[in-house]
Amino acid sequence: MIEKIELIKKEIKNFQITNEKQLEAFRLEFLSRNGKVQEMFGMMGNVPNEKKAEMGKAMNKVKILAQEKFEDSKSNLQSASRKEFGAKDDITLPVEPTYTGSFHPLTQALDEIKQIFLRLGFNIADGPELEDDFHNFTALNFPPDHPARDMQDTFFVRKSDQPDEQDLVLRTHTSPVQIRLMKDQQPPLRSIMPGRVYRNEAVTAKSYFQFNQVEGLYVDKNVTMGELIETLVMFAKLMYGSDVKYRVRPSFFPFTEPSIEMDVWWENEKGGQWLEILGAGMVDPNVFEAVNVDPEIYTGFAFGMGVDRIAMLRYGIDDIRLLYENDLRFLNQFKS
Ligand code: PHE
Repeated sequence: MIEKIELIKKEIKNFQITNEKQLEAFRLEFLSRNGKVQEMFGMMGNVPNEKKAEMGKAMNKVKILAQEKFEDSKSNLQSASRKEFGAKDDITLPVEPTYTGSFHPLTQALDEIKQIFLRLGFNIADGPELEDDFHNFTALNFPPDHPARDMQDTFFVRKSDQPDEQDLVLRTHTSPVQIRLMKDQQPPLRSIMPGRVYRNEAVTAKSYFQFNQVEGLYVDKNVTMGELIETLVMFAKLMYGSDVKYRVRPSFFPFTEPSIEMDVWWENEKGGQWLEILGAGMVDPNVFEAVNVDPEIYTGFAFGMGVDRIAMLRYGIDDIRLLYENDLRFLNQFKS
């Protein structure tokens, strides 16, 4: 009997398993219901009682040997096949979707505006969103009783009745950055100044309490109105296409004289309409005096445009609030 057990043990040890077929053959030969291990246990009936314990132990060892060989071979074969593909994971599984971000339509419109003015020789400057009265109003030649200085129109962060303490406001336009630039640097100056601005307006599809502007300033000797208009026309053509229909109208701003506004023709289902895209003008001599630039030597032009309006025209967005709600269903449409 013991020889029989030893023989099976030898067979198990010598069995070659190098592929799936051999693995299955091994299982059938030794571990299946009619396999040799089971057959061996079947011989227990012939073993005399006093030998049963000893034989049982020996048989169990053989059974464990066969099971271990089977499991080891199986996992060796699996890792070998993984190595063959050079991958640790199951490469047939579907990949996890990846979600990439995208630039906000305002950022995209602003980038285009910046690129155009960089090509025209402007550099980029910026200034604070919390401004004092001097930079936001006084230096820009706003008279003391100008309606913009009213709480109805402007967010005041500090209203002061002390003569030596200034009112603080959330800037209502980017023009105060002009003042900071001219205080800091001597002409010639040629900069654009993008930034967020705030106005105390009711929220509707067309107006919001915050929006974005790009200011432009060019100061040098002999800067003319002709150059201003040429710059603006060049901008309109590069932004809206060389066939853009535009017009320039006289207007008024406290800090420019003369002042103009530029409109572009916007085609729509109802035919089309003129849309104002920017305000501009020649820097008022009073502004130069407030920042100690001699208006007898220097002239300059300035312009200011709304980025939101440009983004809305460009992408056919009809409600400004969409630009500030950060709804992914909206933003995902602007992936490039
Ligand atoms: N600051 C003006 C506005 O907010 C725009 C402007 C800028 C007009 C520069 C003229 C010159 O409406």
